[in-house]
Amino acid sequence: MTNNKLEKINAIRGMNDILPKESFQWLRLENILHNLMAAYGYLNIRTPILEQTKLFARGIGEVTDIVEKEMYTFSMSQDKTDMLTMRPEFTAGIVRAAIEHSLTFDRPQRLYTMGPVFRHERPQKGRYRQFHQISVEAMGFAGPDIDAEQIILLNRLWKDLGLEDIHLELNSLGQVSERLAHREALIKHLEKHLDILDEDAKRRMYTNPLRVLDTKNPDLQKMANSAPKLFDFLGEDSLGHFNEIRKRLDEAGIEYTINPRLVRGLDYYNLTVFEWVTGSLGAQATVCGGGRYDGLFELLGGKPTPCVGFAIGLERLLSLVISDSKSETIKNLFTEMGPETDIYFIYQNVEASRKCSQLAELCRNNGFKAIVHAGSQNFKNQFKRADFSGAMYAIIIGESELESNTVSIKQLQLNPDGSSIEQTTIPTCELVDFLTKLTNKKDA
Ligand code: HAM
Repeated sequence: MTNNKLEKINAIRGMNDILPKESFQWLRLENILHNLMAAYGYLNIRTPILEQTKLFARGIGEVTDIVEKEMYTFSMSQDKTDMLTMRPEFTAGIVRAAIEHSLTFDRPQRLYTMGPVFRHERPQKGRYRQFHQISVEAMGFAGPDIDAEQIILLNRLWKDLGLEDIHLELNSLGQVSERLAHREALIKHLEKHLDILDEDAKRRMYTNPLRVLDTKNPDLQKMANSAPKLFDFLGEDSLGHFNEIRKRLDEAGIEYTINPRLVRGLDYYNLTVFEWVTGSLGAQATVCGGGRYDGLFELLGGKPTPCVGFAIGLERLLSLVISDSKSETIKNLFTEMGPETDIYFIYQNVEASRKCSQLAELCRNNGFKAIVHAGSQNFKNQFKRADFSGAMYAIIIGESELESNTVSIKQLQLNPDGSSIEQTTIPTCELVDFLTKLTNKKDA
């Protein structure tokens, strides 16, 4: 006999299923984030997962890791003229949408979105190929007040979540002209050290010399440390912008480190850039990254519109909250999934099952969560399922209840004070009132 069993099909590496025992944590985190956004006047926007490849190539920059090697890109046409890419981040797509729909025509916009993004990186703990971000973008704001406000918003979030081991790194990349002057000086410096540069550095030194300083190669650290500092090329306005942010952070009591090597992996930034890093997540320590991108609107065909924004990696944030939160409320919120239902209906035969379905609808009308058992009619099995569901009460319709138009109620879990009611049988028409009195449901 041949074995006809078909092979099982697994998920793609680096792309994770989020099962119910984790999904409730995602819902709670997302809920906290939606509320935080509302508290600062940010409106929700949703853009497509697929965009034209040129949006990211132009927006993020041709010579970035993301565009060079991490994008999921394909074409659906024979002649490959319509290259499509699964978004590796949100910012470029949101700017595209803002230009396309003239969102910043008559007033600035505070926008945010949450969802999956895709990068073909080498998967490891905290680094995935499909991961989730909340991306927060303030569009049409030039002043340092908004940069500072976003950092203050983030600081509030860490506090609300009970996170203590998370630290702000801050830098200014200046304006394009300042960067160009620095770039020339930097290329000269790299040329002086040509003999020690690795292949990556040599490849990038003329296209993206700033990124060379971001090298992980220990042999290049000394050269990187002695390179000309962009800070020394910043003019009065750029320094003024930076210093105003610093003042506001100092006033808010937010500590930070100025990291002149912080350049970020996307090319659209100018002036402010920042990252929040933790010591509690191992190698993938960056929980949030962002900064100013005043030139992106123009780069994507729009009118000049100064912007600032950031994105948080939600896998990293959630894992930090679960492992590291110092708040008891948050710890409980992320440990206790809670019962699946308030009431579990159990029955003896098909007629009773029909009656249970009708009664369950009535209970739901009155604000209760209700599950009607489905499957085996064996009473023992049904009670097992009812227990497993975490329901407070089982409602039972056996033959005698059917005959007398009654239901039996059995309490399955103890009340918080340890008490419980005796199993009792009541007329069917009194069920909702009875449950309402028992549970004090306000919405009933
Ligand atoms: P990003 O630094 O590329 O910035 O990503 C933001 C955050 O996403 C990172 O700090 C990290 O927490 C998370 N992240 C990045 N790659 C992965 C990965 N492979 N697996 C898990 N998490 C990851 C941006 O995407 C910019 N669009 C942020 C921004 C918005 N700037 C201005 N506005």
